[in-house]
Amino acid sequence: MAIRLKERFEKKFDEEIRFFKGMMQGPKTVGAIVPTSSVTAKRMASVIDVKSGLAVLELGPGTGVITKQILARGVPADKIVSVEYSEDFYRRLVEDYAGVNFIHGDAFDLENILGSFADQTFDCVISAVPMLSFPMEARIQLLEDLLSRIPEGRPVVQITYGPVSPIIAKPDRYHIQHFDFVVRNIPPAQLWIYRKA
Ligand SMILES: C[S@@+](CC[C@H](N)C(=O)[O-])C[C@H]1O[C@@H](n2cnc3c(N)ncnc32)[C@H](O)[C@@H]1O
Repeated sequence: MAIRLKERFEKKFDEEIRFFKGMMQGPKTVGAIVPTSSVTAKRMASVIDVKSGLAVLELGPGTGVITKQILARGVPADKIVSVEYSEDFYRRLVEDYAGVNFIHGDAFDLENILGSFADQTFDCVISAVPMLSFPMEARIQLLEDLLSRIPEGRPVVQITYGPVSPIIAKPDRYHIQHFDFVVRNIPPAQLWIYRKA
């Protein structure tokens, strides 16, 4: 029991150190100082409709805290497609989460990086990409690309830390819903849901 606790603590500590290193190397790309809390990650994964049988598209998995909660929801590893920009994070994710389809690439260039998954319909999108580091036009384009890859009515969930939606309203094109404010996260996190209009 004590050994298991020690292992868990060491793993979490290692994860945080790796995250912090990533943050020091590319603050704008990583966009946070510590990984998302498990409470927030669970909340994000709660939108998945496991019964749909469709794969889940994850963006910006980092050290895999949200990936872990997607798996915990009962999504089989091979039904997760997860796009990570950092090579360091990508390499570790492949080691840590066997069977998940990790793609090393830019979420803003899905058409070219998704390969055999490019024509697939996903159940939903769970995104931790640091939206605020990118121009608004790119954020809107990414969102609309994501919405075109999921069935009508299904959500794109985005985590952010600012008080307002990181993507401006376009009511004729998509709907924005404030999903949650999670205090048990460093810093406290805002979750937004976007759906096709
Ligand atoms: C705020 S961190 C979130 C990491 C992790 N999902 C978590 O919640 O702790 C943002 C992640 O997005 C990745 N990222 C940044 N820009 C990206 C892009 N254009 N495409 C894919 N991933 C990106 C970063 O490398 C980092 O892993």
